[in-house]
Amino acid sequence: MNILAIETSCDETAAAIVQDGQTILSNIVVSQIDLFASYGGVIPEIAARSHLEAILPVVHQAFQNANFTIPSPHQPSQNLPNWDKIDAIAVTHTPGLLGSLLIGTLTARTLAILHHKPLFPIHHLKSHIYANWLNSSDIQFPLLALVVSGGHTQIIHMQQHNHFEIIGTTRDDAVGECFDKIAKILGLPYPGGPAITQAANGKITQSNLTTLSTPPGNPLKYPFPHPQVPGLDFSFSGLKTAVLRTVQAELHKPLSFPSHQLAPLLSKTQIADFAASFQQTAVDILIEKLTLALKHYPETKSLIIAGGVSANQTLRQTAQSTFSHPPFSLPVFFPAPEFSGDNAAMVGSAAFYEIKSGIQPTDPYHLNLAPRSAIF
Ligand code: KG4
Ligand code: ZN
Repeated sequence: MNILAIETSCDETAAAIVQDGQTILSNIVVSQIDLFASYGGVIPEIAARSHLEAILPVVHQAFQNANFTIPSPHQPSQNLPNWDKIDAIAVTHTPGLLGSLLIGTLTARTLAILHHKPLFPIHHLKSHIYANWLNSSDIQFPLLALVVSGGHTQIIHMQQHNHFEIIGTTRDDAVGECFDKIAKILGLPYPGGPAITQAANGKITQSNLTTLSTPPGNPLKYPFPHPQVPGLDFSFSGLKTAVLRTVQAELHKPLSFPSHQLAPLLSKTQIADFAASFQQTAVDILIEKLTLALKHYPETKSLIIAGGVSANQTLRQTAQSTFSHPPFSLPVFFPAPEFSGDNAAMVGSAAFYEIKSGIQPTDPYHLNLAPRSAIF
């Protein structure tokens, strides 16, 4: 079964054609990161306009790269998408930025109506989890999935395909959001995750995008406190404040000193040390909660880490070294690095497993979208 998948929930315009949930026939991602790097975050209005410009060329390119084209009857030198090859259309419809979701969902609805294809609206976090099936077929249930992105931090228990139970969630900021906010305090560009990792490794990119080198930061230099949230829930806003207060104290500035004026006063060594110490603390908090979750769910057979933050190397290495050895001895799965962030291939994979689970298509005339909603 070939699924055309579309994803426009935030600042990536993406389309992919995926066969049987696993084989990627094409995967196109046009990122708007360059637009937003120096702003320190996504500007929803600009994101929506960029999706509008990119979406049709991106869908067309997905057909080209899959070799799913036929010569145009009017202009034989031009290729047209071969819709006979497509069995279904899938699109991210929630959660995300309203204007961004509108472009993807309206495109998918229109294509489904015009070409008489069944339409499957897909939850964004579900797709992040299913990015793991793109490169591994031996994931066993029941499993725990840690979904860490710019908008979410959740631990999800899955008894089988398409069965999601949220057992832990953040009570305030998502961990990716925390990376983005700390990057801003340290004068690093958006998105904060990769910029923090690079700074921790001694490569500091300033917001004007020039790069400075320094020795790697010391992850033990600033011991930030871990939040005391009971159970499996997370909290990251306290960590953000702790970093801000420590930067202010280090620079002998009062609490009232504006956070956006701190970065130019920090030395390269201080930036690297703050980035390394924050990154280590954020990863340790995630690992602590996963450890607790595995105690609550001892029958777990696989552990999945998904979402933009799953690209983080410190998180990958710590999760592997903690959970793939005794007492846990669990297989730990991550998406291939290019499928950690937003892409459409993962939407095609999630849709395939929905269809296999018997979920019926949605009426394209009535598909609605929701900026926020839980995974069910
Ligand atoms: O899943 P994603 O691409 O978009 C959302 O659904 O939100 O996640 C984006 C988030 C951003 O907050 C970004 O800073 C973070 O993922 N991120 C990382 C890394 N790469 C991206 N965080 C930590 N380390 C990384 N290497
Ligand atoms: Zn995402």
